[in-house]
Amino acid sequence: MLLHVRLSGWACWCLFSGVFSVFSLQQRLTVNLNGKWRLSNSNGSLLLPAQVPGCVHSALQQQGYITDPYFRFNDVSYRWIALDNWTYTTTFTLSAELSVKQKVLLVFDGVDTVGSVSLNGIAVGKTNNMFCRHDFSVKDLLKDGENVLQVGLLSPILYASEQRKAHTSYVVPPECPPGVQKGECHVNFIRKEQSSFSWDWGPSFPTMGLWKGVRLEAFDILQLVQVSSVPLYNDAFSQWRVQIELLIDAVQTARGQLTLSIPELDSEQTFQTHFNPGKTKSNFTILINTASQVKLWWPNGHGEQPFYRLTIRGFQDEFLIFSTESKVYFRTVELIQEPVVGSPGLSFYFRINGKPIFLKGSNWIPVHSFQDQVTPDVLKNLLQSAVDANMNALRVWGGGVYEQDLFYEICDELGIMVWQDFMFACAMYPTETDFIQTVREEVVQQVQRLKSHPSIIIWSGNNENEAALATDWFDIPASQRPKYIRDYVMLYVDNIKKLVQEEDQSRPFLVSSPTNGAESEQEGWVAENPYDPHYGDVHFYSYILDCWDWRTFPRTRFASEYGFQSWPSFSTLQPVSIKEDWSYGSNFTSHRQHHEDGNQQMILQTALHFHLPNATDPLKRFTDTLYITQVMQAQCVKTQTEFYRRSRSEIIEGKGHTMGALYWQLNDIWQAPSWSSIEFGGKWKMLHYFAQSFFAAVFPVAFEEDDTLVIYAISDLSRDLKLRAVVNVFSWTELDPVCTLNSSMLLVPGGSAVAVFKQPVASLLAGCGNCTRLTCLLTFQLEDDSSQQGPTNYHFLCSPKDAQGLRRPNITVKVEEKKTCFSVTLHSDSVAPFVWLDVGNIPGRFSSNGFLMVSRNRTVDFNAWRPTSVAELTASLTITSLRDIY
Ligand SMILES: *[C@@H]1O[C@H](CO)[C@@H](O)[C@H](O)[C@H]1NC(C)=O
Ligand SMILES: *[C@@H]1O[C@H](CO)[C@@H](O)[C@H](O)[C@H]1NC(C)=O
Ligand SMILES: *[C@@H]1O[C@H](CO)[C@@H](O)[C@H](O)[C@H]1NC(C)=O
Ligand SMILES: *[C@@H]1O[C@H](CO)[C@@H](O)[C@H](O)[C@H]1NC(C)=O
Ligand SMILES: *[C@@H]1O[C@H](CO)[C@@H](O)[C@H](O)[C@H]1NC(C)=O
Ligand SMILES: *[C@@H]1O[C@H](CO)[C@@H](O)[C@H](O)[C@H]1NC(C)=O
Ligand SMILES: *[C@@H]1O[C@H](CO)[C@@H](O)[C@H](O)[C@H]1NC(C)=O
Ligand SMILES: *[C@@H]1O[C@H](CO)[C@@H](O)[C@H](O)[C@H]1NC(C)=O
Ligand SMILES: *[C@@H]1O[C@H](CO)[C@@H](O)[C@H](O)[C@H]1NC(C)=O
Repeated sequence: MLLHVRLSGWACWCLFSGVFSVFSLQQRLTVNLNGKWRLSNSNGSLLLPAQVPGCVHSALQQQGYITDPYFRFNDVSYRWIALDNWTYTTTFTLSAELSVKQKVLLVFDGVDTVGSVSLNGIAVGKTNNMFCRHDFSVKDLLKDGENVLQVGLLSPILYASEQRKAHTSYVVPPECPPGVQKGECHVNFIRKEQSSFSWDWGPSFPTMGLWKGVRLEAFDILQLVQVSSVPLYNDAFSQWRVQIELLIDAVQTARGQLTLSIPELDSEQTFQTHFNPGKTKSNFTILINTASQVKLWWPNGHGEQPFYRLTIRGFQDEFLIFSTESKVYFRTVELIQEPVVGSPGLSFYFRINGKPIFLKGSNWIPVHSFQDQVTPDVLKNLLQSAVDANMNALRVWGGGVYEQDLFYEICDELGIMVWQDFMFACAMYPTETDFIQTVREEVVQQVQRLKSHPSIIIWSGNNENEAALATDWFDIPASQRPKYIRDYVMLYVDNIKKLVQEEDQSRPFLVSSPTNGAESEQEGWVAENPYDPHYGDVHFYSYILDCWDWRTFPRTRFASEYGFQSWPSFSTLQPVSIKEDWSYGSNFTSHRQHHEDGNQQMILQTALHFHLPNATDPLKRFTDTLYITQVMQAQCVKTQTEFYRRSRSEIIEGKGHTMGALYWQLNDIWQAPSWSSIEFGGKWKMLHYFAQSFFAAVFPVAFEEDDTLVIYAISDLSRDLKLRAVVNVFSWTELDPVCTLNSSMLLVPGGSAVAVFKQPVASLLAGCGNCTRLTCLLTFQLEDDSSQQGPTNYHFLCSPKDAQGLRRPNITVKVEEKKTCFSVTLHSDSVAPFVWLDVGNIPGRFSSNGFLMVSRNRTVDFNAWRPTSVAELTASLTITSLRDIY
């Protein structure tokens, strides 16, 4: 029955879900079932309260049954948790209002993972996909008075292994992760966060739980389940239209009238419609008045992120039956793959609102092994850190989770472009009907949930699975390859790609990353070499080759993964370790390293250019080692990123026009060595401070080619600049420049990289006192007529380990409190490379860090993320520079 309420003097229920607020006059009722449940293991030896949303590990920790799972070797010690089965139970009382509703749904926003749900002892349904929302119609099972709801969860390790055993026809590799990861096997057989069985940067914690909300939804005629809106631009008519899709759950056929409006754009349309019983999708298009000046959403650094309010109202006769409001952001995105002059292959770049944009950023992995511990503050801090480092893009990597709504809302607001993978990574996957069916459900649900977000600029089918097949990671015999390729095409092309393109025509779809894109398609979706720099995107890693030599990097169209490991700082490791762990050779140090030979590789790469720490005090030696791995990583990723940015405008030997640099990886899942630029807990590594500079909109880059120093001016701005390079030559022994060189003014068009300075190193040094490669170094910057443009950069003429005259600096420091932050003023008596300020476990960040000090004084700000004082900061502050570690 419809509750008739006159439009005048209306009362309403307001249910907030994400950006949408739903007003319903037909009294949709929601009973929140989140909160304290009871949790028990299979034999009943453990019985404890458990928070929902949550997981078993978090509950055990909160109730004191286990200590911090991240402490020392606990990932191995707590393996038993995921080998057991667990049951969540709650009870609730039915209200009179609810019991008279025609339809009652029991909704789980996310069950992790293999569950069987029962209500009052009667089976309601099963789950086996962490990425799906489930609803079960339960009206007939509800009782007056107390109801008992139970979710039994099967060990995901056991389930994966049983699925594997049932798959007898052929192997679906890999069977198990490498031993160094101390992980679990067959994760590709379960639709669950793939990295939860361990990864090369993360522990094995195969979670189980109700990781998202649980509730009852009750209604009489119909309810609006989901709204999505996608703006599309028609070039021919220069007109925007907004495609709006409603997912409606109706008890009975309902006729009505629907009004869609964007008042600020003077656009409103009314449709006569009817809703069939059951869950149905209907879509509507609202044309935007061509006279309206639509303000566009732009990526960070290219403009603002304005939005409009979209109102949707459903009427029956003149009675309002539902009303919702959401945000619409207007922007277009195209992935351009077309012939390139002077180059074989195809371009690969994104055009947003018609403008080619260089993507600068990183890759996003799960923020925590236990998703229930990811707070809004943690998300905000990480995403703000990305923007503060001048990033405009993040790739949500395919071995984690589809992130929560808030993640994409913040990306919309901050102008972060998201490259969204589907959650398949580094493996072959089964293609049995059941598996395909659950994947299809997952894909449709996720696309519907996420497609309204302008931040998502591309969908991508999987991480590295084309490359895994093409370059035979899993030793598949040649005779069997066709079968695996067929499975690959069936899953990612015939199912995922097809579904996504049916659901969303507003952004491109790429089958894999890395891929040759259109060329891979030509080759039957698995290219001979998906790493071909003439096509698509490339992932490139080399730990042994000298990272200071840009010649080792592929001049790709788009670098979507590349990176180097480093260790997090001592203050991050300290809470999860004890004294005996604090050496580079400890069991702990090798336990936390999940990448084969990773610790050794870091040292070898470091030793190419730096003295290794040799303090006699073991703790100092350890912390110096943590420091120098961060120096190495920052310097390596800087060199590689500079190479990609300066390759944007040119084609050299048929390669170039690079239009993206997303290094691996932004964040960490625990306290361990990894490729991240931000430590677990949010502390910036040296690399992240470097990114602030090397991703700056206007930036100078230097490199040597045939002993000639070349400086490029790089600009991501829309307008043209006239710039010259100013080079200061310093001796390692002195704080005043030995000499200064200027280039002439040159035009640097918006969105380009232009060589502005070229001089043989020998002639440059000859004109500059007694300088040699070993005694001098360069800093340089760009200037227009009136001022410096972009940050100052530097170029070493030798490895710092060979530098002659580099002394141990005497750096004194003064901390002062300012209005909104603290200032730290450094005074140095000599040149100091990689000056690193660390305030231990006082959370916050500096305005700049890890810098080259070639001036007597330098002041940086410290923004604390909790109250602190000059005294506390002064006591905690340590300063390390390169010459302090040997
Ligand atoms: C019950 O299960 C736990 C966890 O698997 C195990 O440690 C314990 O020994 C079992 N207790 C009994 C009585 O079987
Ligand atoms: C978990 O449940 C499965 C399926 O019922 C069963 O085979 C297995 O023995 C159970 N595990 C434990 C530890 O009880
Ligand atoms: C919207 O509906 C039309 C007509 O029913 C259909 O052709 C179109 O594919 C639908 N669009 C979406 C995004 O579902
Ligand atoms: C390190 O691990 C090995 C092998 O597990 C063990 O034998 C050794 O005692 C451990 N050493 C320390 C210092 O804990
Ligand atoms: C370089 O330019 C600066 C102004 O930016 C000027 O002061 C200086 O004299 C110039 N030096 C040379 C060698 O041209
Ligand atoms: C070059 O070195 C010589 C000898 O060390 C010294 O006397 C002279 O002053 C130096 N010249 C400059 C320009 O630094
Ligand atoms: C370091 O510099 C400070 C201030 O300039 C001075 O007071 C102090 O004696 C110096 N320390 C050393 C070891 O030279
Ligand atoms: C640099 O710092 C020193 C000591 O803190 C101070 O005496 C001096 O005035 C400063 N110089 C400049 C140029 O700020
Ligand atoms: C560390 O190495 C440096 C440079 O090789 C050397 O001068 C110093 O004596 C060494 N220190 C120790 C404690 O071995």
